[in-house]
Amino acid sequence: MGRWHVIYASVIGALAIALVVMLWLFVLTGKTTAVPGDTRQAIVLEPAEQALIRTEMRRFLAAVQAIIAAALHDDPAAIAQAARAQGMAAAGQVPARLAAKLPIGFKQIGHGVHHEFDRIAIDAEAIGDGKLALSQLAETLNRCIACHSAYQLAPAGS
Ligand code: HEC
Repeated sequence: MGRWHVIYASVIGALAIALVVMLWLFVLTGKTTAVPGDTRQAIVLEPAEQALIRTEMRRFLAAVQAIIAAALHDDPAAIAQAARAQGMAAAGQVPARLAAKLPIGFKQIGHGVHHEFDRIAIDAEAIGDGKLALSQLAETLNRCIACHSAYQLAPAGS
């Protein structure tokens, strides 16, 4: 009886340690390096992964343009459409293998931006105020700026 308890406790202990190490490796740190003369953390990614992130970024920029234009034209439906396309649903399309390489701070800022786009869409539909959308967008852009000043992408092997 006593001996089995020791074995169970050891197995559970080993699993718990493995879990903490995996959590540390895959969830918290991501895969980053330093670039001399640059204060931003460099996230090390394969070319296809970089392309995916950059494509998402260019969609962000296009959404910013579309929201500003729609607000100027007093078109809440178009604001909502452009914003919703960049909401949390878009964040879910990142493959798990890529997500594991992204530092937790990067993911937090990124999720914040996706959430804010959903918020802009919901409020545009419910309230229909272009000026509100613009002020929400101004807040959202602060998060784009924060992430850009903290992170860059680096090719694998660097
Ligand atoms: C979670 C972090 C993060 C957020 C949030 C973020 N970006 Fe980026 N963005 C990056 C990184 C990292 C790069 C690559 C920088 C580099 O060249 O190494 C980048 C690159 C870009 C690029 C260049 C894409 C290319 O083809 O190279 C554009 C445009 C861009 N971001 C727009 C935006 C806009 C607009 C927002 C906000 C709506 C935004 N980003 C929010 C991290 C972020």
